[in-house]
Amino acid sequence: MFDRFLRACRREKTDVTPVWFMRQAGRYMAEYRALREKHTLLEICKTPELALEVTLQPLRLGVDAAILFADILLPLEPMGAPFSFEKGEGPVIHAPVRDRADIDRMRVFEPEEGLGYVLEAIRLIRRELDGKTPLIGFAGAPFTMASYLVEGGKSSDYFRTKQLMWGDPASFSLLMSKISEVVRRYLHAQVEAGAQAVQLFDSWIGALSPEDYRTHVAPHVKNILQSIETTGVPVIHFGTNTSTLLEAQRDCGGTVIGVDWRLPLGEAWKRIGYDHAIQGNLDPLLLCAPPDVAAARARAVLAEAAGRPGHIFNLGHGIVPQTPVDHVKALVDVIHAYRHEGAA
Ligand code: CP3
Repeated sequence: MFDRFLRACRREKTDVTPVWFMRQAGRYMAEYRALREKHTLLEICKTPELALEVTLQPLRLGVDAAILFADILLPLEPMGAPFSFEKGEGPVIHAPVRDRADIDRMRVFEPEEGLGYVLEAIRLIRRELDGKTPLIGFAGAPFTMASYLVEGGKSSDYFRTKQLMWGDPASFSLLMSKISEVVRRYLHAQVEAGAQAVQLFDSWIGALSPEDYRTHVAPHVKNILQSIETTGVPVIHFGTNTSTLLEAQRDCGGTVIGVDWRLPLGEAWKRIGYDHAIQGNLDPLLLCAPPDVAAARARAVLAEAAGRPGHIFNLGHGIVPQTPVDHVKALVDVIHAYRHEGAA
């Protein structure tokens, strides 16, 4: 049903719980791997027709929303920090940003100029999907993006990012402000191009204490979210490892709060408050477990939501490449077959 996902974002009643998955397009799908034999990840992202093709691939699984195929790191290149995806290593930033001079050089650009190919992909996807499946746009949140810029790639402890944050808070704040303004303009441009909801990925925010989150991150995230919420389009504010940050995260904004599996969904929702919708929160590795085990755990997540309007079923983080496609399809069917006790 076309509006199940958007209705749930607005906490309206739906026939069944809507479901989509982070990383629902990707290496676990044979048709994605086939395309990747001919094109790099960045080529797919930068060619609107290919981005359209990959965005549509997972829809055959029966999910209730499409997510634009792109990557949170794309804005780094027009900001002045080109990167590549290296096999087995993930993203590598060619010249990491580590001091004031590097930060001063970072550019705040107009989305149509720097990321016009993403906006064109959104327009193509909307033309293709209209009246069928809603389209989610997205961007990375400033801390998660800053961590790649400063570390130069993935990191387990965010050593350099934290040293910059504590050692030169003014420069860190300038970097966060520049990224935030890029992200704010980019999300507005995505909404104008046709995104019907947007998700802000603050995937690595759980590395911070509540105090550091409130001091060094929250004001920037708040600026972005409050600005995007004026469009009226639902905003999903997602993070992982947020058990100690949930209230602070919610206070920054978001129509929907995305939570991972480390907290029971019912407990997370109670803390966030029932005036927000919630998204989550099955452990993505359960999609590699026997389907009956995954189904039981998925029903437990649904039971945690207790039939309250405003739950969007998702994983707590992205689908991993080892996942069997059949398991994903089976999970979608489990979610759509579920009826809350006492519901009509
Ligand atoms: O969810 C979706 O289906 C939309 C597409 C999407 C991708 N990346 C495509 C992608 C989205 C929403 C992202 C977000 C993203 N990218 C995040 C935040 C979400 C998260 O996972 O926490 C982050 C941190 C990135 C940065 C990134 N991109 C990393 C660290 C990697 C390498 C790790 C890996 O899995 O290889 C990527 C590559 C990437 N982005 C792939 C996909 C499908 C891998 C597939 C490939 O190499 O073809």
